[in-house]
Amino acid sequence: MKIGIVGGTGGMGEGFALRWSQKHDIIVGSREVQKAKEAAEQYSKLAKEAYGSAMSGSISGDDNFALAKDVDVLILSIPYEYITDTCAKMSGQIRDDCVVVSPIVPMARTDAGFVYIPLEQGKKNAGEMVGEGLQPRSRVVSAFHTISEVKLKNVGQSLDADTFICGDDQGAVSKLNTLVSEISGLRPVYLGPLALSYQAEILTPMLLNAAKRNKMKHPGVKLT
Ligand SMILES: NC(=O)c1ccc[n+]([C@@H]2O[C@H](COP(=O)([O-])OP(=O)(O)OC[C@H]3O[C@@H](n4cnc5c(N)ncnc54)[C@H](OP(=O)(O)O)[C@@H]3O)[C@@H](O)[C@H]2O)c1
Repeated sequence: MKIGIVGGTGGMGEGFALRWSQKHDIIVGSREVQKAKEAAEQYSKLAKEAYGSAMSGSISGDDNFALAKDVDVLILSIPYEYITDTCAKMSGQIRDDCVVVSPIVPMARTDAGFVYIPLEQGKKNAGEMVGEGLQPRSRVVSAFHTISEVKLKNVGQSLDADTFICGDDQGAVSKLNTLVSEISGLRPVYLGPLALSYQAEILTPMLLNAAKRNKMKHPGVKLT
């Protein structure tokens, strides 16, 4: 599969690239093509060290908008604040059969602790914003909100966690389920349509508050 990561130079982008490059062709995206190529080179070195001859995929780098035109799966790995602007520049340029994935968490730090922006400020949840920005909405799936980049980047570590998945189209959800299941120790748990994405997104500020106050390192979520 060809997987493009918009904002792939961030911590989550590195984790996705390292985990999926064992089998898939990854294109790391950035607003600056040179930055994308440098990140891709660095990730590629790490992936080759980790997988050796068991690696059948690849990692390359490109401009966010160039890569978005021809991928099977597009991960929008950017901060919440830039969804509208980034989607506006990409809208209409993505392949019809491309599945778009939002791991985006609208979160802010306040005196009380981490808070969920849509609840505090009456704004929309991230999954639905991506659905509006990169229509048709049915192609958009949200996931990975409670996965720490530190654990994701450590390819030798089993995540031993669940990730909640929201999406309106079962075909798109099923494509992402396959990719999620390829990450060691990660189980996809379907939550419902994109309208419920807030239920997954809001778990992240909760986890960070719990982690900070109870001195826990990168906790995740697992249904038992
Ligand atoms: N970090 C975590 O542990 C974690 C866990 C779960 C979910 N998430 C969510 O996953 C997403 C990615 O997380 P992250 O920590 O990797 O994010 P990040 O490092 O803050 O940002 C990722 C990339 O976004 C790009 N970016 C920055 N400003 C931008 C702008 N104005 N327009 C377009 N792109 C811009 C940057 O790439 P270039 O400068 O190269 O363009 C940056 O490397 C976030 O929405 C976050 O909420 C994060």
